[in-house]
Amino acid sequence: MLKETLEQGRQLTDAALDRLIPLETQYPESIHKAMRHSVFAGGKRLRPVLCIEAGRMVTGSLPARIEELGAALEMLHTYSLIHDDLPALDNDDLRRGRPTCHKAFGEAIAILAGDALQTQAYEVLARLKCPAEARVRIIEEIARGTGTIDGMIGGQVVDLESEHMRPTAEMLEYIHRSKTAALITASLVSGGLYGGAKENQVAKLRAFGLAIGLAFQIVDDVLDVTQTSEQLGKTAGKDTASEKATYPALFGIEASERRADALVNEAFAELDSFGEQAETLKELARFLVERKK
Ligand code: IPE
Ligand code: IPE
Ligand code: MG
Ligand code: MG
Ligand code: MG
Repeated sequence: MLKETLEQGRQLTDAALDRLIPLETQYPESIHKAMRHSVFAGGKRLRPVLCIEAGRMVTGSLPARIEELGAALEMLHTYSLIHDDLPALDNDDLRRGRPTCHKAFGEAIAILAGDALQTQAYEVLARLKCPAEARVRIIEEIARGTGTIDGMIGGQVVDLESEHMRPTAEMLEYIHRSKTAALITASLVSGGLYGGAKENQVAKLRAFGLAIGLAFQIVDDVLDVTQTSEQLGKTAGKDTASEKATYPALFGIEASERRADALVNEAFAELDSFGEQAETLKELARFLVERKK
């Protein structure tokens, strides 16, 4: 069941991404090659899958063309990865099992490929096939989730500024909620809005997203310590080398794993009112903390 959910979501998303991102033969070719290099490199597509399943939970069936919303979220996520890997940020050589965008295309094109994926995402969002009011709310939700106040960019800023120091638990939670949980939350909330969610349902998706998003980044930090680069498709041990503010660094691996588990259990309670319809999202939440890459 989980396997099918992930596989169906990935296929729908990848087909939409392929339709929506300019071809490598489109002039100017270098930027389109760079965008495709990073997007089609074997990401898990978790944000689109969470978005699609939130839409399905709210409506009771797969909302038509919701994968275009999923594809826009994946473009934004991939842009964040390209920039995260740049020498000025985490300085990584390996991503999704391939050389990072700047290793393959140079820094200038990598910066522009990230920018281009961001603008492409908003073009796609502006054309979503849902009522205009929902579309505007979705755009606002996603812009905020990737912005500077409690959003992805804000989290990245504090992540970088916290290197080489021992953060407080509060700072660490701010970093993780902002750099990672905010976009995961926006994925769930926007999927719900696309499916016509009511305000009380949006609030539940938001609380669920913040909890599983934080758990997701805690697990990302744990995997950085426990897995190999081959398993991850990105450089292992990087957080320790850069003295990043992470959960395992502050609390140890076991306590971090327990915290991630506890967060997922808390998140489950948020979906109680959806009854059986919430089973798939719950399965996905469990997968987020049990994944090995
Ligand atoms: C990695 O995200 C970056 C984080 C926010 C931790 P994913 O683990 O979802 O990466 P992909 O998309 O599968 O490559
Ligand atoms: C990055 O966190 C979160 C983003 C917003 C991209 P990390 O720096 O831990 O992500 P990885 O481990 O490089 O994928
Ligand atoms: Mg980083
Ligand atoms: Mg990184
Ligand atoms: Mg990491």
